[in-house]
Amino acid sequence: MKFDTPATTNPIDQGKVIGKPTDRIDGPLKTTGTAPYAYERHDVVPNQAYGYIVGAGIAKGRIALLDDRAARAAPGVIAVVTAKNAGPLAKGKFNTAKLLGGPDIQHYHQAIALVVAETFEQARAAAHLVRVDYKRSKGAWDLAQAKDSATMPTTGEADKDTATGDFAKGFKDAPVQLDATYTTPDQSHAMMEPHASIAAWDGDKLTVWTSNQMIDWGVTDLAKTLGIPKQNVRMVSPYIGGGFGGKLWLRADVVLAALGAKAARRPVKVALARPLMINNTTHRPATIQRVRIGATKDGAITAIGHESWSGDLPGGAPEVAVQQTRLLYAGPNRITKMRLAVLDLPEGNAMRAPGEAPGLMALEVAMDEMAEKLAMDPVEFRIRNDTQVDPEKPERPFSQRRLNECLRTGAERFGWNKRPAAPGKTRDGRWLVGMGVASAFRNNLLTKSAARVRLDDKGIVTVETDMTDIGTGTYTIIGQTAAEMMGVPLDRVVVRLGDSAFPISAGSGGQWGANNSTSGVYAACVKLREAVAKKLGFDPLQTEFADGRVRFDGRSKSLAEAAGDAGLVAEDAIEYGDLDKKYQQSTFGAHFVEVGVDVATAEIRIRRMLAVCAAGRILNPKAARSQVIGAMTMGAGAALMEELAIDKRFGFFVNHDLAGYEVPVHADIPHQEVIFLDETDPISSPMKAKGVGELGICGVAAAVANAIYNATGVRVRNYPITLDKLLDRLPTVS
Ligand code: MOS
Repeated sequence: MKFDTPATTNPIDQGKVIGKPTDRIDGPLKTTGTAPYAYERHDVVPNQAYGYIVGAGIAKGRIALLDDRAARAAPGVIAVVTAKNAGPLAKGKFNTAKLLGGPDIQHYHQAIALVVAETFEQARAAAHLVRVDYKRSKGAWDLAQAKDSATMPTTGEADKDTATGDFAKGFKDAPVQLDATYTTPDQSHAMMEPHASIAAWDGDKLTVWTSNQMIDWGVTDLAKTLGIPKQNVRMVSPYIGGGFGGKLWLRADVVLAALGAKAARRPVKVALARPLMINNTTHRPATIQRVRIGATKDGAITAIGHESWSGDLPGGAPEVAVQQTRLLYAGPNRITKMRLAVLDLPEGNAMRAPGEAPGLMALEVAMDEMAEKLAMDPVEFRIRNDTQVDPEKPERPFSQRRLNECLRTGAERFGWNKRPAAPGKTRDGRWLVGMGVASAFRNNLLTKSAARVRLDDKGIVTVETDMTDIGTGTYTIIGQTAAEMMGVPLDRVVVRLGDSAFPISAGSGGQWGANNSTSGVYAACVKLREAVAKKLGFDPLQTEFADGRVRFDGRSKSLAEAAGDAGLVAEDAIEYGDLDKKYQQSTFGAHFVEVGVDVATAEIRIRRMLAVCAAGRILNPKAARSQVIGAMTMGAGAALMEELAIDKRFGFFVNHDLAGYEVPVHADIPHQEVIFLDETDPISSPMKAKGVGELGICGVAAAVANAIYNATGVRVRNYPITLDKLLDRLPTVS
C-alpha cells in the first residue's frame, strides 16, 4: 500500500481496541521469567558449546604475538578463533571498526579471539591463557584536545553545514545576545540484557538466535561479514531486554558465535560479559556545543547558531547534535555546523534520540539563559518563538506542531506560576528548591514496513513480521492494530515477531517502530479484509468487520466460517510517497522538573517530573506512558550521573560496568507524570500515529539543569551535573 495522500477516516478511527491502555500481551511471559532471551535458548538446538571473547588490552596498535597454545590445551577447549584462522571477513555496512580485530587494534576491548569450550567456565578459564603481546601506537582520546583538528563530516546530507539569512550580522546587531558553550560526556546504553547470540550451521545455512533491534539490517550485514548469501542466514530475536540503539547493529557476539560454531562444528553461544560491553560495543559520543542566540528586547529571536564537535574512529560519523536547532524555533538568521574529530575510543553511534538528546541538553539551557537575559519567563520565551513552518524552508509546514500547547498545559499542571523568576529564592528546610522547563523535540521518521496476516478456521488472526519488541510494547500495539482492523477482540490475535523468516519490517529504532510497523500491519489487514469479502461475494468497500463477524447487505458470516478449512492469508507493506518532503514531521513536548539541592552538601534530588507530549495518535497510552517515564528516567541519568570516564593515558572507558557507570535507581526517581495531547496526524500514516519512545528523553536533562539553576543560582554547563560542580558556588549556609 502506497501512502501518499493524507489519511481519511479508516477502521483504526473506531478506537475500539487501538488507543486503549491495554496490558501487554507479553506481560505474563515477562513477569514469570518465561520469555526466552537469546542466551537462555537452551532448547532451540542441541549440543551447544560456550564461547568466551578475549578483548584487546590496548586501545590502538598491533598484536605482535598471539599465542593460543595454552588455551587450546586447556580442559574442555574445542576451538580458538582469531583473525589468523577465521578466514576472510568483510566489514558490515553499519560497523565502523572490525568485530574481530587483529593484527591491527582499533579500540580497547575490540574482540581478538573467541575460545570455545564444553562449559562456560572452561571457556572463560582458557580465555585467560591466551597470551598476547602488543605493539602500542599513539592515539587520540580527548575531544577537547582533538577539537581543533576536527573537520566537516562527509557522511551524509544531514551532516552538512546549514545557513539561512546572515547569521553573523543578525547576531552582531541583536540587542540581546547569548554565546555559551556546553559539554556532554560519552554515555553507555547500559541495557539490562547483554549482547548475546547462539549460532548453528546446517551445511552452509546459518541460524542465529540473538538480541537485535533491526533483523533485516542484521541479516544483511552478517551475510556480508561472513561472505555468504543473505538467504543462507536466518536471524531470530523475539524478545530483547533493552537496546536503546546499542543493538541496532551486529556486534562481536553474533559474528564470533557464527565463526566459533564453524570451527567447533557444533552450535556455539556467546554473550558479551558486562565488563566487556562498554568498550567492545558502541556508545553515545561526547560533544562540545556552542550555542549563540540573538534576540530583540521583546524576545523575538533574530539569530540562532549551533555548532557541535564530536569524535569517532576513522570512517565514523558525528553526533547530530544540531538537528533540532534547524527546526525548533523561529528566527531569520541561522547556522548549524558539525565538526568531527578522529578519536581512537570505541565506536560512537546511536543511543536513544541520537542528535536531539545531547543537542537539547545544550540548546534548551541556552534558551533558559537567554530568557533570563531578556527578563522573560522561559515558557513565554519559547512560545514567543514558535514556528509553524520549517524555519530553513518556509514553504514546508509542520504536519502538526503543538509545542505551545504542550508548554501551556504543562505550566498549568505543574504549578509553574509558583516559580520565582530569581534563583535561590525557595527554601524547604535544608533544600534549595527550583523548577525548570525545556522543550522536547524529535523527528518522526517514515520507512517501509511489511507484515503477513493469517485468518484460520477458528477465527484466529495471526500476524507475522520481523518487527522487534525491545521492551516497548510492540507485541501489544501490533495485536491491537490487527484486532481493530479485523473486528475481533485482542485475545483472538496471535503476534509473532523478530524472525527473518517473516516479512521485513521497519524494525525498532529512531522511535519509528510503532508508527511504521503498525502501518505495515494495517496494509496487510486491508488486503485480508478484501480477501475475506471477495471469498464471500461481498463488496469489499461496504463490508463491515465487527464482533468477529463480517456483514454486508443484510448478510452475516463469522470470520471462522469465512476463512474456511484452508484459511486465508494476506501480505503487504506500507510504503511512503513524498508527504515527509512536503511536510516536516516531528514530535513535540515539554518537560517540567522540580529539584531540591541540599544547601550544605549540594546533593541534588529530583522531586517532581512532568512530560506533556504531542505525538499523533497514542496507540496504547499505558505502553506509551511506560516509554516516556523510562525516557525521563534516562534523561535524569544524563543530567545527574551518566558519564563514561576516559583514561586519557591509555584510551579506554574506565568505568566499564554497572558499578562504575551509574544510572538512576528507584530512589533517584520521584513522582513522574505524563500527559498526551489528544491528537491524530493524518499526514504521518494511516495509523495517524508518530513516535514517543525517544521524544520522552529529549529536553529532560536541560529541564533538570534549569531547575538546578533556579534552585541555586549556579549555572553548570558541563554534564553530568554532579555536586562537586555546585559545591563551591552555593549560597552561604544559613
Ligand atoms: Mo534508537 S538510538 O535508533 O534504538
